[in-house]
Amino acid sequence: MKRITFKHENISAVGLGTTGFWSGHNAGLKECIRTAYDVYGINLFDTAEMYGSGRCESALADALKDMPRSSLFLVDKIHPDNAVPARFMKSLDQSLIRLNTDHIDLYLLHWREKTELPFLVEAMHQAQKEGKIRHWGVSNFDIRDLNDLFSAGGTDCFCDQIFFSLYERGAEYDLLPFMKEQQILPMSYSSLGSSYYSHPDVRRNREIMKICGEYEISPEAYMLRMNMEYGFASLFSTSSLSHLHSDLQEITDDVYNALRPVFDSAFPPPDHAVPLVKI
Ligand SMILES: NC(=O)c1ccc[n+]([C@@H]2O[C@H](COP(=O)([O-])OP(=O)(O)OC[C@H]3O[C@@H](n4cnc5c(N)ncnc54)[C@H](OP(=O)(O)O)[C@@H]3O)[C@@H](O)[C@H]2O)c1
Repeated sequence: MKRITFKHENISAVGLGTTGFWSGHNAGLKECIRTAYDVYGINLFDTAEMYGSGRCESALADALKDMPRSSLFLVDKIHPDNAVPARFMKSLDQSLIRLNTDHIDLYLLHWREKTELPFLVEAMHQAQKEGKIRHWGVSNFDIRDLNDLFSAGGTDCFCDQIFFSLYERGAEYDLLPFMKEQQILPMSYSSLGSSYYSHPDVRRNREIMKICGEYEISPEAYMLRMNMEYGFASLFSTSSLSHLHSDLQEITDDVYNALRPVFDSAFPPPDHAVPLVKI
């Protein structure tokens, strides 16, 4: 599995999300998480206090319980309602208990809403000082939001986790280059398009399925590879072991380059700025 080295961290370029625990795919997702770690060396796992009101954090802790904590890179997110002075630390402490750990590797604001950004930055710095989180960042922030964050003192923001997939390539136009320029790690969620969001289905495209058949790869493996190619740490999810294996098929540069014109023609890159889509 390709790895990303960013600000002294070594993270697998692909990571697994945990919303599947919320929708009841417990056994399958747990098996996929363990196989992703054991077989593919994936160490990036994403959750949020919002997912199933904490149930997904607990389920992730259970899935990872035999793995050395130092080998994992755990991402968790605070709900904007809790990013206020009265609730921030309490919320973080409860997440730590559910995750059964004394620290989170990357703690994100789930989305902006009405969050007071100067408070957020101060609270994240305090949590870092107390050793409860190693890095902090945001999710679903567009360029304007990131500029507001910088003005609020948040220039050390580690990551912006955004919706980016073959179906939603808007960030390619301006947000992604901006993150690179500002040294913010781009992390994509729903890298396969998500089942919660309506989009055209790559599997219904005959040209794509034909060329994928010729090269014996799955379109999902191409989608993850595309996100990785852009420098994203790419989150996806599956509760099916056979899907996991086909999603994580390795795609060589030659194959990627041969397939790219077909995928780009069916799902073209943006030629103008588009607002960031949030699921
Ligand atoms: N920051 C945010 O606001 C935010 C928002 C949404 C998600 N996230 C994070 O990102 C993670 C991943 O996103 P996601 O779960 O929404 O979406 P995703 O990974 O884009 O899509 C997951 C869906 O794809 C299906 N799938 C996977 N491989 C497949 C294959 N080979 N063939 C057919 N179907 C396949 C899965 O079904 P099967 O189980 O049947 O394989 C599942 O229904 C989440 O779990 C969460 O941690 C963050």
